[in-house]
Amino acid sequence: MSALSFQSVSKIYPARSAGASAFQALKQVSLEVQEGEFFGLLGPNGAGKTTLISILAGLSRASEGRVQVHGHDVQTDYAAARRLLGVVPQELVFDPFFTVRESLRIQSGYFGVKGNDDWIDELLDSLGLTDKANANMRQLSGGMKRRVLVAQALVHKPRVIVLDEPTAGVDVELRQTLWQFIAKLNKQGHTVLLTTHYLEEAEALCGRIAMLKRGEVVALERTSDLLKSATSQVLRMKLDGELPAALAAMARVTGRIVQLPVHNALEIENHLATIRAAGLVAEDVEIRQPDLEDVFLEVMNRKQPATGVSA
Ligand SMILES: Nc1ncnc2c1ncn2[C@@H]1O[C@H](COP(=O)(O)OP(=O)(O)OP(=O)(O)O)[C@@H](O)[C@H]1O
Ligand SMILES: [Mg+2]
Repeated sequence: MSALSFQSVSKIYPARSAGASAFQALKQVSLEVQEGEFFGLLGPNGAGKTTLISILAGLSRASEGRVQVHGHDVQTDYAAARRLLGVVPQELVFDPFFTVRESLRIQSGYFGVKGNDDWIDELLDSLGLTDKANANMRQLSGGMKRRVLVAQALVHKPRVIVLDEPTAGVDVELRQTLWQFIAKLNKQGHTVLLTTHYLEEAEALCGRIAMLKRGEVVALERTSDLLKSATSQVLRMKLDGELPAALAAMARVTGRIVQLPVHNALEIENHLATIRAAGLVAEDVEIRQPDLEDVFLEVMNRKQPATGVSA
């Protein structure tokens, strides 16, 4: 039995007012996540990731299709399904009147868990919150609030951990400790479903990845196979000026660093010649293997959704 099963899930948000049109956020999404997997759900802003997670968490209803957690339907068997899930929401929602420790105890009570102070202490320690345990939620910085949301999701030691952008606004050090902690839980057998825009995190952590584009699954593969599927290598360099338009259309540009997909030696020569002809000087030129960000861009820029996508 799958840990998570999404079967032909569609979601249509109804029109809010007369004249407005309804919006289809998910189209026949089918995915199976096995127990113990570290699974990545990727896609650009608005692709439908949070919508899918909201349906999983019972916060929103699918217009069509079925979602199950370890065989429990999230609608007809809500309490059992919800208990198996620890969900870190993308939006920062918290009660400003409680301290961090009180929030965690209240959340434990919500799941009927008592006497778990040792686990709460371990969570506080692992998430760098020990010295804020007695601080009021409203006294915390944004990154610290997000850490509390992670702790809250884990208080009842859920079998399935769902993280919707858990590292948005979180500093480098905590990102590392957070991932070590989540990876440890995953090794112990907890299933993890992660959405993130930090593709290097997804590449490092996720065994399998699904990519969503405008509500549809357009890739669903092992991370290693996705990386192998890239059809190009990457020509990377530093440039002292603006890239000619013909190349700019296909480039990944971060400040002075320019990265271009290349398929063969002739293409490399042509790109460098175009750059030289534009009067630009390229430094630190290198060819590297594609990473998940390159594959992501390649998949998202395809004209047609991939065929043969299966659950
Ligand atoms: N309550 C709502 N009513 C109408 N449309 C909605 C609602 N919630 C989300 N949408 C729309 O559904 C689409 C998917 O939104 P969703 O939040 O699932 O995207 P996402 O993949 O999580 O994006 P992000 O990476 O920005 O978090 C978007 O176009 C969004 O505007
Ligand atoms: Mg989202």
